[in-house]
Amino acid sequence: MDRIRIVGGSKLNGTIPISGAKNAALPLMIAGLLSEETLILDNVPRLADVAQPQRILGNHGVDIMSAGKRPGDHEYQGQTLHISAKNIIDTTAPYELVSKMRASFWVIAPLLARMQEAKVSLPGGCAIGTRPVDLLIMALEKLGAELTIDGGYVIAKAPGGLKGAEIDFPKVTVSGTHVALMAATLAKGTTIINNAACEPEIVDVADCLNKMGARVTGAGTPRIVIEGVAKLHGARHTVLPDRIETGTYAMAVAMTGGDVQLSGARPELLQSALDVLTQAGATITVNNDGIRVSRNGAGLSPVNVSTAPFPGFPTDLQAQPMALMSCAKGSSHITETIFENRFMHVQELARFGARIHLDGETATIDGIAKLRGAPVMATDLRASVSLVIAGLAAEGETMVNRIYHLDRGFERLEEKLSACGATIERISG
Ligand code: EPZ
Repeated sequence: MDRIRIVGGSKLNGTIPISGAKNAALPLMIAGLLSEETLILDNVPRLADVAQPQRILGNHGVDIMSAGKRPGDHEYQGQTLHISAKNIIDTTAPYELVSKMRASFWVIAPLLARMQEAKVSLPGGCAIGTRPVDLLIMALEKLGAELTIDGGYVIAKAPGGLKGAEIDFPKVTVSGTHVALMAATLAKGTTIINNAACEPEIVDVADCLNKMGARVTGAGTPRIVIEGVAKLHGARHTVLPDRIETGTYAMAVAMTGGDVQLSGARPELLQSALDVLTQAGATITVNNDGIRVSRNGAGLSPVNVSTAPFPGFPTDLQAQPMALMSCAKGSSHITETIFENRFMHVQELARFGARIHLDGETATIDGIAKLRGAPVMATDLRASVSLVIAGLAAEGETMVNRIYHLDRGFERLEEKLSACGATIERISG
């Protein structure tokens, strides 16, 4: 199994190109099922979590062509995928595929909308919590689908097609909003989604759906209105930049010190995280090419962070400031309000000497002068990268084990960091 070896202590200086957002690429690829014509997606990151939906879509009969690089393409430019769902030959998404990636459950929406039937394995729990799908099921039932659960599968049918409806989510859910949005594009009549998630990835998917001929308004606000259409057509869409990758590298620079240009980043996608970084003592400037982050000289100030749906502080950035605050001058508090079990990084950060005390959903971090490198283990995607950040700032050698989690969500992590002066390498085998 691959590992990452880091020798900490170097400041980061240079430019990091930001990749396309994993959490937009996934639903965008799934939205390709809604049309018999080709959906072309540009700037798709090369990640394990993008390869997996390719297999899932392939199982439904979708042809996916990945275009190679063209002259003049940037070294880090994402791939272009041509997704052609002309003939859907199978409406079942089997356990073996869905259990590997929760978001693959979302295929239930376009399959039901276009084929009036779907049989999709329940995704099960995961390392960060139980993550039920009851709200996704509620939304599809509101749209007129009949759903039963049998043998671990959700069997969904909508013989006369889906019908527009008013869907009130009792809590903000990204997955629920994606599913309701995709399903409603081909439903008869008007659908209103109340208390919709406002995450930028929802807006990106809605933009793409509109390019495909859907009639969606209000994405990015808590009230999305969808006028159903009979068919969607082909389109071309560029995946928006990854705000979580942006925030992660910004935290890394704040921790090691230095000066890095995050090329292609969009500040409005992560203002809450940039505010926290400024409070902690980093300097953030916005320019034509993205965001520049620097910290020189001054120590880190403690901050209090509480995760919340967008535009609040993202749960996917919760582990990273915990690494950062472990070297602040004083005590910080980080509260996780979205997932019940997203603190697996705490015990691993303790291996660097970090002083973190957990009480329910709040972690108290008492800053110390220096972390020391250690062998650590990645537990989930975002937790893993907090260990990398800690390792970059720690004295001595850190070995991060089980890095397949990192490969799910961070494109060329060690290349991007070593180009900025970090001593970081992948050790194969
Ligand atoms: C998305 O997960 C992201 N995944 C997650 O990123 C992210 O952490 C999360 O949104 C929150 O921002 C993708 O986009 C692929 P939710 P999702 O539905 O859609 C509860 C990463 O590291 N809930 O907004 O599954 C749920 O348990 C990943 O990239 C129900 O109770 O999140 C959670 O407590 C991890 N019933 C809360 O809602 C439901 O039917 C928010 O979940 C659905 C969700």
